[in-house]
Amino acid sequence: MDSPILAAIYQRRSIRTFTGDPVGRDLLHEIIKAGIWAPSGLNNQPWRFVIVTDRGLRAALAGETKYGHIVLAAPALIAVYLDRDSMYDEVKDHQAAGACIENMLLAAEALDLGAVWLGQIRNNKENVRRLLGLPDGLDLMAVIAIGHPDRRDQQSHREPLDHFILKEL
Ligand SMILES: Cc1cc2nc3c(=O)[nH]c(=O)nc-3n(C[C@H](O)[C@H](O)[C@H](O)COP(=O)(O)O)c2cc1C
Repeated sequence: MDSPILAAIYQRRSIRTFTGDPVGRDLLHEIIKAGIWAPSGLNNQPWRFVIVTDRGLRAALAGETKYGHIVLAAPALIAVYLDRDSMYDEVKDHQAAGACIENMLLAAEALDLGAVWLGQIRNNKENVRRLLGLPDGLDLMAVIAIGHPDRRDQQSHREPLDHFILKEL
């Protein structure tokens, strides 16, 4: 099948090492634009974003996760938040956040960038919120580390389809 969307889905890998080259602000905005075009329940668009390229701040954020080496190596981070005031259903809003983040990862792939979804940093989400100077009412979903990949030979694995398909009725 010759589809650029399917190609991006299948070719995307989590990228954790980067060249030192910066990522342009226009590209970061494009990635966020792809995120906000994800579906959301009632089209409530509960996501909010913080872009971090400042090295000192990245170093501080690196201290909040065991994946700090990735946070420090990536020239750009996008923290993805849910705005509690915009939410209407706990589960559905979290589903929307996941759709948003996956759109962003696919956009990074389409832009020939590399990215990884960092979830472990949520363990220190209050510290992260304070470091970013955000009010409470914003709930950290993930930090996406973004950069120019220094290699593209990452391997991943999925179980075969019949592991997941419970029934075909
Ligand atoms: C909810 C979630 C949390 C994740 N958290 C981390 C993380 O904290 N650190 C990390 O290196 N990768 C993290 N990942 C990336 C996964 O490890 C990765 O997607 C998985 O191993 C499959 O590899 P692939 O993305 O290359 O196909 C996370 C992915 C998801 C969906």
